[in-house]
Amino acid sequence: MDAARAAAGKVVFDAQCAACHASPRTGTRIPLAEVGTDPGRLDTWDKASAIEANRVVAAMGITRKGLVEEDLPGYKIPFLDGIWLRAPYLHNGAVPTLRDLLEPVDRRPRVFWRGYDVYDPTKVGFVTEGDEAKRVGTRMDVAEKGSGNQGHEFGTGLPAADKDALVEYLKTL
Ligand code: HEC
Repeated sequence: MDAARAAAGKVVFDAQCAACHASPRTGTRIPLAEVGTDPGRLDTWDKASAIEANRVVAAMGITRKGLVEEDLPGYKIPFLDGIWLRAPYLHNGAVPTLRDLLEPVDRRPRVFWRGYDVYDPTKVGFVTEGDEAKRVGTRMDVAEKGSGNQGHEFGTGLPAADKDALVEYLKTL
């Protein structure tokens, strides 16, 4: 870890990311349109699904606090503690490394292998390319339904030096 670079990255984080990831909004749900990530997971659950699930459970004679019966507007803003070890990123794991998440969507990897345990400390995430990653891992293709890597383009327009500093700071969380 490069402490001076991480300190520079904190300044970038405070300006670009903290309003969501280090604020009272952290851990709350925001409208999908605000983050723009793949809608597939949200589409698998809605108010009608919750009502039906609660009905089946009650009919079985089980008494428990039911599932929340309302439509979900979007994904939660995650806490970023230990984020360096939580690759691949986004709710569907469609972005292999933190550095890739800071690139515009058309520059993020489209096909890669998840599940290999060799770590890449520069891009921050696991190695997802090469023979061994292919042998051990599972192929991810962002063109498949629910696997899209779009959205969350925060910070993608920053100069490369700021992105590198930001990644260095994210390693410290
Ligand atoms: C408008 C609010 C908002 C801003 C600003 C924002 N994020 Fe996020 N971030 C989110 C949401 C919501 C998600 C979850 C999206 C999903 O999983 O589909 C997320 C997900 C992430 C993830 C993936 C977490 C995981 O467990 O996979 C990382 C890393 C991240 N953000 C870093 C950043 C960084 C770095 C910045 C600043 C450049 C930033 N975010 C700016 C809302 C925001």
